[in-house]
Formats: sequence, structure tokens, C-alpha cells
Amino acid sequence: MRSLMNTVLVGAQWGDEGKGKVIDFLTEEADAVVRFQGGSNAGHTVVAGGRKYVLHLIPSGILHDGKHCIIGNGVVMDPFDLMKELEQAESWGCELKGRFHISERAHMVMQWHRAIDAAEEAARAEGSKIGTTGRGIGPAYAAKVGRRGLRAGDILKPDFADVIRREVAEANRTLRALGAHELEADEMARLYEPVVSALMPYVTDTIQLIHEFIDAKRPILFEGAQATMLDIDFGTYPFVTSSNPTAGGACTGSGISPRSIDRVIGVMKLYTTRVGEGPFPTELDDADGETLRVRGGEFGATTGRPRRCGWFDAVVGRYAQRVNGVDYWALTKLDVLDTFPVVRICTGYRRKDGFVYTTFPADLGALAHCEPVYEDLPGWQCDTSKTTSWDALPANAKKYIERIIELVGGKIGVLSVGPGRETTLRINI
Ligand code: IMP
Repeated sequence: MRSLMNTVLVGAQWGDEGKGKVIDFLTEEADAVVRFQGGSNAGHTVVAGGRKYVLHLIPSGILHDGKHCIIGNGVVMDPFDLMKELEQAESWGCELKGRFHISERAHMVMQWHRAIDAAEEAARAEGSKIGTTGRGIGPAYAAKVGRRGLRAGDILKPDFADVIRREVAEANRTLRALGAHELEADEMARLYEPVVSALMPYVTDTIQLIHEFIDAKRPILFEGAQATMLDIDFGTYPFVTSSNPTAGGACTGSGISPRSIDRVIGVMKLYTTRVGEGPFPTELDDADGETLRVRGGEFGATTGRPRRCGWFDAVVGRYAQRVNGVDYWALTKLDVLDTFPVVRICTGYRRKDGFVYTTFPADLGALAHCEPVYEDLPGWQCDTSKTTSWDALPANAKKYIERIIELVGGKIGVLSVGPGRETTLRINI
């Protein structure tokens, strides 16, 4: 199975499944890594050589010498966040010239998008707040769909400053209506002056570049950010992000055909977490939830917020398998469950009238009155963090994983039992 091929990697739950680590692992077999959606709301953590690296916009492939890293057209990038990250990557000794590329079609998150994000969130009533990362993602995608967006290629144009002034005037109307501070157009135009020279060398036609890789049969890894349950179409709408982190997004967000995708890998944590607001059927508000949070280090890589924690949800897993066509699973954080005498798997959501949902309902109101149906399995209560092969796992850990795969479909490909690169076990791929 270990052959050169184009891989799409997606998160199956509500994000923070450990995608950064799996991407880092799979990058060894790829010549290029492409981000296809989202922006600096993502936080991909890689631990290598005892050092922790967190990347928000630049594909994690940058940590591997010689790999090409591409920001695809479906991404919304904040030029200032990107400039900071490029400086950081250089300080880590990463060579960027000739291997880091930004699509001229990628939209930019501008200062006013951040201001609108904050003002809209503040204006939402309690219970309707989304708990966004505050990175301006929703307003930037709204501008894109509303055909008012600024694209990376626009920085190359002589009238970039005038466009900024015009857009600030437009954004101020929205900010005024929301009772927020307005921005000063000339100041904004000046603020963006350094962006032009800093990013210009990287802006290019990435569709052409990606197809050169495809034509030369050089394998590409398409790196999804966020996850299935945060997808604007398939997630827990409206408590979602504003892009398509599911496998289809890899095509629209990078300019490839579905025919160019050879396999889909889903990343799934062996329990569930969520940051921000919105439904979470298996959420635990007790000592078990706290154990998961503390043992799993469940604090947001982008915002530092404590993550909400709960048992594994097979309804979500099955839904993600279908929506993405997951061939192989990368299962993460098994070691976090090491101390539990019993581990629980949710197989459905029971309504008060006895009806059990076995697929994720679109109507979140219906979910609010449901309780999870659990299957209980015995825990293994020993340290799995030093395990180096499937065979060496405790029998109960194997049974837990096998039951999950049976319920969700697909095959197991990778198992992660700790944060470091050396704790990733290759199973079928
Ligand atoms: P936004 O993407 O900043 O608009 O946030 C929308 C929702 O997606 C919020 O609930 C965020 O907490 C969540 N979210 C966005 N990016 C990530 C991520 O990378 N990991 C986990 N949750 C995320």
C-alpha cells in the first residue's frame, strides 16, 4: 500500500484531532503539501526533536527540507499572520524561497474582517454566540462569496492602496451598524504597504504548479484544517466555520479534479473534543471530562481556550466516513484513555419518545433533547505511550479500536499513542 499517491487528509470531529502530527508523518512520502481551506483559525502542532512547533497558515510540510508548501485558492490568509509565521519559520532554519507558494486566487483576511468578526460575535445574544477564533474568517469568506474580496494577486496591482481605501469605507458601514469602532482608510492603506514586498515573491499561479506535480506523478498531500463537524455544509450549522474542511474542499480549494485523489485519510481522536460553542452530544461535565482535558492537554493551539471533552462518538465517526469517503483512519491519543476502568462509545442519540438517531441530524433543536446511547467496554489501565506495534497493544485497547472501526467503517491506517514523531504507528498504510 505504501506507494506514491495523492492523499487528502481531513479531520473527522470538531477539530484538534492531531492533524498536524499526522500530516508531518505523511509529508515524508509527499513532494508537496497543499492547504485548501480555512486560515489562521487553524493551529497545527508538531513535536519534533523534543521541540514543539505550532503552525497556523503555512503547511506543516515546511519543517521537512525540500518539500513544496502551497497555500491554495480556497484558503483565506491574513497577510500579517502569514508574515509573522514566515519569519518564525526562517528562525527555525526553514528555507522558503522556491518552495513556499501562495495562490494568487487565495483571498485575504483584512483588518476590517477581524473587526467585523469581533463586533458580530459581541452583538450575538447569549446562546447564539459561535465562539469564533476571532481571526476574521467568517467575514473574509462572506466578502469572497459576496464578490468584494481581496485576493493575494491584488497586492501586485498598482491600485492596491485605493482598493483598500474603498473597502474600508464599505466595512465602516457595517462596523457603524454594529456600534463598533470605525477604521481610518489612509491609515489602513499605509499599514498594508510592507505586505506587498514581503509576500510578492511567493504569490504565483498555484493551479499550474499543482498540475505540474500531478503530471509528473509527484505525490501531493492535501492538508485539511478544522474538521467535518465544523464544515459550513455538513457541520453543526450555524456553530461551524465558514469553509469546507471535508474532502470535496480539497478540489475546490486547490484546483484539482476528484479523479486526482487516490486516497482519503481521516484523522479521529479516540475520544471527542470541541472548542467554541455548539452541540456536543457526548460532552462530559464531570471528573472523567476533566481527566481527558488534563491528560490530553486539551487547550486550544490558536486561542489557548480549554477544550470541551467527552466520550468517543461513533455517530459522528460514521457520518465523517461517509461524507469524506475515508479509506484509512489515523486514530490519535490512545494513551489519554490509559487510566479509565471503562471506556464508552456513543452509538446513537435517544430522543425522549424513544427514537434513536444513528446518523447526525441537521436539526440541532432535536439534538438538544436527546441523550447519548453508550456501549461500555473494559479499559486497559496500563501505559500505551511506549507501544511500538499493533501486536504489543493491550488486548482491551485493540478491542476498543476494532469496535470503533466496525461502527464507523473504513480501515485503520495510523495509530498515535503520544505527541512525538516516534509515537506514530503505521498499521495498514
Ligand atoms: P471561526 O473559524 O474562527 O469562524 O470559528 C468558528 C468555529 O470553529 C468556532 O467554534 C471555533 O472554535 C471553531 N474552529 C475554528 N478553527 C478551529 C480549529 O482549527 N480547531 C478547532 N476548532 C476550530
